[in-house]
Amino acid sequence: MAKKTIAIIGATETIGAIIAKNLSRGNYRLLLFGHDQAQLQGVAEGIKEVNPAADIDCISCLVDASWEADIIISAVPAGAEEQVAKKIREVATQKIVISIPNPVTISSGSSVSRGTSAAEELQKLLPNSKVVKTFNTADAVDLARAIADGKQIDSFIAGNDEEAVLTVREIVSNAGFHPIMAGELATSRALENARLVK
Ligand SMILES: NC(=O)c1ccc[n+]([C@@H]2O[C@H](COP(=O)([O-])OP(=O)(O)OC[C@H]3O[C@@H](n4cnc5c(N)ncnc54)[C@H](OP(=O)(O)O)[C@@H]3O)[C@@H](O)[C@H]2O)c1
Repeated sequence: MAKKTIAIIGATETIGAIIAKNLSRGNYRLLLFGHDQAQLQGVAEGIKEVNPAADIDCISCLVDASWEADIIISAVPAGAEEQVAKKIREVATQKIVISIPNPVTISSGSSVSRGTSAAEELQKLLPNSKVVKTFNTADAVDLARAIADGKQIDSFIAGNDEEAVLTVREIVSNAGFHPIMAGELATSRALENARLVK
């Protein structure tokens, strides 16, 4: 099967870096994006240390990374997604965009209105892309521990495009998670609420 290229936006921090590390073992070319190039290089070098065969490039331009990719993963804070979406809207046309952000915090509540979710808002900002929610319900610490212990963590998947959801299920599985089909993109409301952050 042809190798798919996946851009990870927000690869310098916890979740993006963990997903990159896990996917580097699959048949993927990974394009890592983050503003801090030194930190990004550190993430890539760390991955190559444990997996020298990893096909990884660090990209300093968000638009270039998204343009080159078949699939885009958004691992940025919910509040940064609008800015990211405006930049990648054209180059993300017809592509799968995986939404990880959780907009709900214990201290200030949700940054999106009731009756919607960060994933649905992203879909509105990227009307010609196929947004799928996943990788958002596990804590980074739990993820790292599960990986170290060789255990699988559940990853719920929600999306409206059937083919896109199946492709994401394969990615989730190749990243070492147990994929659970959760339904339409609107299910993201529950999935995002299930994981409160401080
Ligand atoms: N940490 C967890 O346990 C956890 C669990 C589940 C879901 N999540 C969700 O996953 C997302 C990432 O969380 P995190 O804790 O890994 O990291 P984070 O501290 O939220 O940072 C995420 C990344 O976003 C990038 N970023 C920030 N603003 C940006 C912008 N305007 N344009 C492009 N990139 C931008 C940052 O890169 P630069 O600094 O290089 O700009 C950084 O690499 C969040 O939405 C969070 O809700 C986190």
